[in-house]
Amino acid sequence: MTTPSPTTKPRVIDVRLPLALYPVYYDIEIQPNMYEGPAANFTFNGYTRIQLRCDTPTRNVTLHTNKLQITPGSLEFGAEPGTAAAPSIVNWEWDKDRQFMVIHLNGVLVKDGLYYVKMNYTGPLKDDLHGLYLSQYEQNNDTVYIAATQFQPTDARKAFPCFDEPAIKSNFNITLVRKSHLKSLSNMPIIDSQDRGDNWVADVYQTTPKMPTYLVAFVVCNFEYTNQTTTNNILYRAWSRPESVDQTRYALGVGVKVLTYFEEYFDIRFPLPKQDMIAIPDFAAGAMENWGLITYRETAMLFEPGVSSEGNKQRVAVVVSHELAHQWFGDLVTPSWWDDLWLNEGFASFVEYMGVDFVHPDWKMFEQFVVSDLQDVFDFDSLISSHPVYVPVAHPDEINEIFDRISYAKGASIIRMMRFFLGEETFRRGLSRYLKSRAYAAAFHDDLWSSLTEQSNLEGKNINVKEVMDTWTLQMNYPVVMVTREGTRIRVSQQRFLRDANATDPGKYTSSFGYKWEIPFAYTSSIESNFNKTDADISWIKPNSNELIFDNPTVIPPKSDNMSWVLGNPMQYGYYRVNYDTANWLALINQLKRDHSQIHTINRAQIINDAWSLAKAGLVSQDVALQTVEYLDDELEYVPWAAAERQLKYVDTMLTKTGLYGAFEAFMKAKVQRPFSIIGMNNTGASHLESYIRSVISGLACKYGIQTCTDEALRLFRQWINTPANNPIDPGLKSTVYCTAIKYGGVAEWDFAFKQYKTATVAAESARLLSSMGCSREPWILSRFLHRALMPEEIRKQDALDVLVYVSRNSIGQGLAWDFFRNSWDTIRNEYGTAFFAFTRLIGGVTESFNTPFQLKELQMFVDTHPDQGSGKRAFDQAIEKTNANIKWMEANLMSVQMWLKDQGLYKE
Ligand code: BES
Ligand code: ZN
Repeated sequence: MTTPSPTTKPRVIDVRLPLALYPVYYDIEIQPNMYEGPAANFTFNGYTRIQLRCDTPTRNVTLHTNKLQITPGSLEFGAEPGTAAAPSIVNWEWDKDRQFMVIHLNGVLVKDGLYYVKMNYTGPLKDDLHGLYLSQYEQNNDTVYIAATQFQPTDARKAFPCFDEPAIKSNFNITLVRKSHLKSLSNMPIIDSQDRGDNWVADVYQTTPKMPTYLVAFVVCNFEYTNQTTTNNILYRAWSRPESVDQTRYALGVGVKVLTYFEEYFDIRFPLPKQDMIAIPDFAAGAMENWGLITYRETAMLFEPGVSSEGNKQRVAVVVSHELAHQWFGDLVTPSWWDDLWLNEGFASFVEYMGVDFVHPDWKMFEQFVVSDLQDVFDFDSLISSHPVYVPVAHPDEINEIFDRISYAKGASIIRMMRFFLGEETFRRGLSRYLKSRAYAAAFHDDLWSSLTEQSNLEGKNINVKEVMDTWTLQMNYPVVMVTREGTRIRVSQQRFLRDANATDPGKYTSSFGYKWEIPFAYTSSIESNFNKTDADISWIKPNSNELIFDNPTVIPPKSDNMSWVLGNPMQYGYYRVNYDTANWLALINQLKRDHSQIHTINRAQIINDAWSLAKAGLVSQDVALQTVEYLDDELEYVPWAAAERQLKYVDTMLTKTGLYGAFEAFMKAKVQRPFSIIGMNNTGASHLESYIRSVISGLACKYGIQTCTDEALRLFRQWINTPANNPIDPGLKSTVYCTAIKYGGVAEWDFAFKQYKTATVAAESARLLSSMGCSREPWILSRFLHRALMPEEIRKQDALDVLVYVSRNSIGQGLAWDFFRNSWDTIRNEYGTAFFAFTRLIGGVTESFNTPFQLKELQMFVDTHPDQGSGKRAFDQAIEKTNANIKWMEANLMSVQMWLKDQGLYKE
């Protein structure tokens, strides 16, 4: 039997496996061949034997494979001892669209019979970052090759034939064959190493617990490790290339603490005997939660004190915590299908904050949450091209598409809201109940709702979690709550919030709740000033109630003047915006200016974010929005500045190519003057959050041309050029200094940066340099940079698409990047199209500043003439909607921004 040519079928709708056969366990042996000949020809050999239980009589065996060459004559099907003789194989075919291998039998299998299928095969070992793939790095002028895996969501089938769906859990017996000078790693510990002769060694791994295919992992490499043992006796190792093994210590320390913290929080022990983390030089995502063998991009795991910044450090802590959270959410309990991906990613994205907060309480992670997750996804989720959290998906392209801000950040935000309305302890016990009830099995979101409801009932709180949460997960977008003051009463009502209320609904999703939500509402005021509300303070705004009236003289101020205000959604626990009558907005603004400390840090960020977003949607005047940032002269906290920076950055992007830009620059320069003079550029000994705020303020100061900033940046960079082995720049200021020096410098500065990029021994440093190289103002330099992006020997494939984003952020590079993007589309799509987040970021990035009808036309034309957008389809829809919204923003606001700049004496015609 030879490999048949693929059958062609019409466009795939149903990609799900038939349920007739269930894989009980797998025996898998894999041998990467990466020792001789050109790397382009590397391959791996595999052997897979699957024991199958017949649940429904069937005449065929259908399983997933992709890009595997089945060795002729090796395919075998048979009955296990105790099951009557099996029918034999007639032939097999490959269904390319579904990535199915269908083996036809000449008879029917009996229910409950046990069978096996086995085969040998080979596959390509390429640098494509998916399935079992090739990674490499330079060591003493030699290229060292590594074989690593990335299976989520649908690439286990590229390494072994399997039932590649998340709900199908099996035991895995894995054997990895390697040369004796290398090491191998997998989910479980090695139980035996066998000499296979000719320097080959076979490492045999302990059987895994029941788990899905996408969490299987293995690596063959020459790495070293550091290790610790957790309180509950789990061996924890942190692996990297030998040269950077010292950089694993921080991640290891966080990992050890957070693993035990989660065991206690969920009240469930980590079920595997060991946990490995490994930093792989080429990696598609940031990290991957394979059970017991978590794989990372180097920047997400390695940390070098004195070289890496506090930002890099937090990234490591967050990623480590996120992937450890998945060991319970995802690995122990797995979504039944990818449509509930948010159960994985939303949970891990919330719980990651708890883990980091446990290790670093002074980082105020739960304040940062509001800008990094909640306010971040609010923009995206105000588009009609958004999607519900729970979303039907079938084809691998569609599955890849939903690894997006909705699954992650909206998922996390509504979980945080749920913790608020259930109360912290109820929430924790309910989660634990859910995890215990579905351990080693799969779950649907209703399983979570029922565990939480049970817990709430047990505690006499009686919240129907499904009724509430369905309104947040089954329909897209979110509400804006209108709070109107009438004497000593407030009236409260809800309405769907859309960036552009006139955008045409493509009709892809409908809502069975009429775009109304179950909203846990709370508020405070100038006379109460209590931002620490709990579940006891909640009033529910129901989908069917038109408005609520609150008549509470102990909270609501007696009169409505510019000294007294009410504020809805303290701490922004709820996933909604709040709008007010103008008088109340002005009173809030007045409070910010008089004494902003009277309003909680989170709600200062909320006021800025809500006012600006409501203004974009035409629900408050742009003037109100502009006034919310006037108090920033006195603001020294990171979170409100981060919120303001996002909004001002938007205005900056919209204005860059208009005649108003000079005046806007002058405004920004004036805005950061005072904070910059207080905060300055000496970051020595700064705390984590001081370092954060200094990075924001100095970034703005240099960008808008405050001379003490740019002078200092240029001085520091020159000093570095003079003594390349001795970088004098504080890690917290590096981004600002590098970007400024490259912006004002020429090719010498740029080439120096590129050289440092190539030779840096700390991955975070390379990443920072790469982004700074987009700051050049020389079109030819930017153009050369774009071309290098697609040369894998110059820039790793994992980083390539980011280069286009970096160049797009620069107003001089924006057009170049857009042209380059269109010209290189086929290469990007075919060679880089599955680099996960990078692809969505890319499409969003190159179109970010589009705000003219002409740009819209270009974008539309590109989309129309390139129907095969793969997993980028949704990102293009969003780009079109955003461009439309930007055009409207320009029409509606250019005049008012001009007036306002004029009023400040900054703009003259
Ligand atoms: N499960 C994902 C990795 C992943 C992403 C697999 C996309 C397949 C497609 C992992 O848990 C993850 O979310 N990683 C994040 C880091 C996290 C801290 C948000 C990442 O890769 O950036
Ligand atoms: Zn994740």
